[in-house]
Amino acid sequence: MSPLDAARPGPQLSTDSERNETQMNPTAQAAPETAVSPDPAARSRIEPIYVLDGITKSYRMQGRTLTPLTGVDISIMPGEFATIQGPTGGGKSTLLQLLGALDRPSSGVLRLDGIDLAAARDGVLTRMRAARIGFVFQSFNLIPTLTASENVNVALEGRGMTASTRTERVAEALAKVGLADRGGHRPSELSGGQQQRVAIARAIVAGPKVLLADEPTGNLDESMRDEILELLEGLNREGLTIVAVTHDSAVAKRAHRRLRLDGGRLHEVRR
Ligand SMILES: Nc1ncnc2c1ncn2[C@@H]1O[C@H](COP(=O)(O)OP(=O)(O)OP(=O)(O)O)[C@@H](O)[C@H]1O
Ligand SMILES: [Mg+2]
Repeated sequence: MSPLDAARPGPQLSTDSERNETQMNPTAQAAPETAVSPDPAARSRIEPIYVLDGITKSYRMQGRTLTPLTGVDISIMPGEFATIQGPTGGGKSTLLQLLGALDRPSSGVLRLDGIDLAAARDGVLTRMRAARIGFVFQSFNLIPTLTASENVNVALEGRGMTASTRTERVAEALAKVGLADRGGHRPSELSGGQQQRVAIARAIVAGPKVLLADEPTGNLDESMRDEILELLEGLNREGLTIVAVTHDSAVAKRAHRRLRLDGGRLHEVRR
């Protein structure tokens, strides 16, 4: 799946229907600990948003098996801002794809809001992505022929909203990222920092719980990097959980929690 597909969610479903579909899947049903509390509000107050237990990921390429993730164990609480650093080729983007329900682990348990993504059916993954996850990428991944507003609007497709509700939501999201007056601009008519703001607006317009960012400031100079960081910090203060992969220690230092992926495992970086 391309990053643009990731940004283009499917129809939104309630937690109940996701749960029902998960329960219809015998593999998912086999794990009793995937059962979720009947009160979603109470659950999210006290329970991690992500639980990863013994996650591995292997790729088979030309007769060779490559295993970038050899055993990742981590819990992420709602409202955290976590960064992941590590050597190039170390599996950071791979891990983010698993967190984003874009791919499944080879083994282990990966729960998002109590639902095991490793065992869930494709339809459940699609709906988990649409309802809970926003993505931001290093290269913005905006559609060059669409305006900023139209790019953000893409993330609301297939959600059964009226055109006027969508227009309102898009305007709100662009205002939130400080681009209320740039809705009519195409990506080529925006600075790099502004393009990343549009991408962030697209990622948050549907109201996700988690923002997954892969090198969100990697293509930006220092002042634009700081602007984007401040924007992410503001969204985090409003309650959005953020997991960001970064090579930039200045970014990692601003997060609540620093993680390092090395040798296929994730470690806490002590300050
Ligand atoms: N779809 C795939 N098929 C086969 N191998 C893959 C696939 N995706 C990633 N890999 C391999 O898995 C390893 C980890 O890749 P990944 O992109 O997760 O690293 P990364 O930590 O994000 O690196 P960088 O910092 O350079 O972005 C690499 O060796 C890569 O070649
Ligand atoms: Mg990467």
